[in-house]
Amino acid sequence: MLQNDLLLRTLRGEATERVPVWMMRQAGRFLPEYRALREKYSFFERCQTPALATEITIQPVDIVGVDAAILFSDILVVPQAMGLEVQMVESKGPILPEPILTQADLARIRVPNVDETLGYVFDAVKLIKQELNDRVPLIGFAGAPWTLLCYMVEGKGSKTFDKAKQFCYTQPKLAHTVLQMITDTTIAYLKGQAKAGADVVQIFDSWGGLLSPTDFENLSLKYIRQIVAALKEEVLTIVFAKGAFNSLDAMAATGAAGLGIDWCIKPQLARKLAGNNVTLQGNFDPAKLLAPIPVIVEETKAMLHAFGKGRYIANLGHGILPNVPVDHAKAFIDTIKNWQG
Ligand code: CP3
Repeated sequence: MLQNDLLLRTLRGEATERVPVWMMRQAGRFLPEYRALREKYSFFERCQTPALATEITIQPVDIVGVDAAILFSDILVVPQAMGLEVQMVESKGPILPEPILTQADLARIRVPNVDETLGYVFDAVKLIKQELNDRVPLIGFAGAPWTLLCYMVEGKGSKTFDKAKQFCYTQPKLAHTVLQMITDTTIAYLKGQAKAGADVVQIFDSWGGLLSPTDFENLSLKYIRQIVAALKEEVLTIVFAKGAFNSLDAMAATGAAGLGIDWCIKPQLARKLAGNNVTLQGNFDPAKLLAPIPVIVEETKAMLHAFGKGRYIANLGHGILPNVPVDHAKAFIDTIKNWQG
């Protein structure tokens, strides 16, 4: 039995003593203890060694006292398992040197056996669960098919992902084949994480907001819906599609237990669009953690007040920035834990 199951009860819509809190990208970004490990091991070494992934996953639980751990890994381990080379280049981000551009490139990717290709993640999940020793729940994750396609076609990060969009708009049949292959891999991958012990899984659609509502339905939500439906009996799911708040009603209709929201939507409007049968998660501006501590405390309280106590998980509206001072993150978390509503 979990000692702190606030996150799980909030996702199920049950009453809780207080609002739970965790921070997107809390594992492996802002903590000095992580930076030290970064000096010694390459990015994929950190992901592929269960003992290292475990240490990094648990650091924010020990150091800033969040109500949930999130697995240390990356969304790009899925394209890697499907057959593409992924490099993590210092200060440049991810590079995929041989992206998918044509029908012929399909021969280079497959829907893999996830136990063979991603077994190291399942081993990490098992070890993390053991080391957490039921203190807080563990969140697993995967990238949404659209966001993964963005990297698999563009070959690197981008502000607009116009090459990925061009691929979808000029070769729609091929795009849908790739999206379905990613979806099938992701379903098996997230089922494997749940089987290994993940209590919740989050689907990150970081680039969902680049699409019009119609394209979001066609290129993204259609596949997220399949993933949520396939996991329904096995694990609680949270869908976070950054910038796609216009589609909150459609996202709520997928049956996900939780929906993440960024900081560009008012809490009241998010609740109105999403309805009352889903838990909302967010929506503090990550850069606000760079403000002086009294400002962080005041704005965090205002956010809590706006969302109210039920069906709400406090979080940032996107990942924590690497340059956030630890005491600023701690002020955010402590304000939430001490808030009486
Ligand atoms: O949330 C966590 O703390 C767990 C770990 C996690 C990582 N990546 C580790 C990581 C998670 C959940 C992710 C998700 C991820 N990865 C997303 C979706 C969330 C988001 O922020 O939008 C995306 C788009 C990626 C792809 C990716 N991986 C990029 C763009 C980069 C480079 C820049 C960056 O965000 O740091 C990465 C590298 C990466 N993934 C690092 C970490 C800790 C940095 C590498 C390092 O520290 O050496």
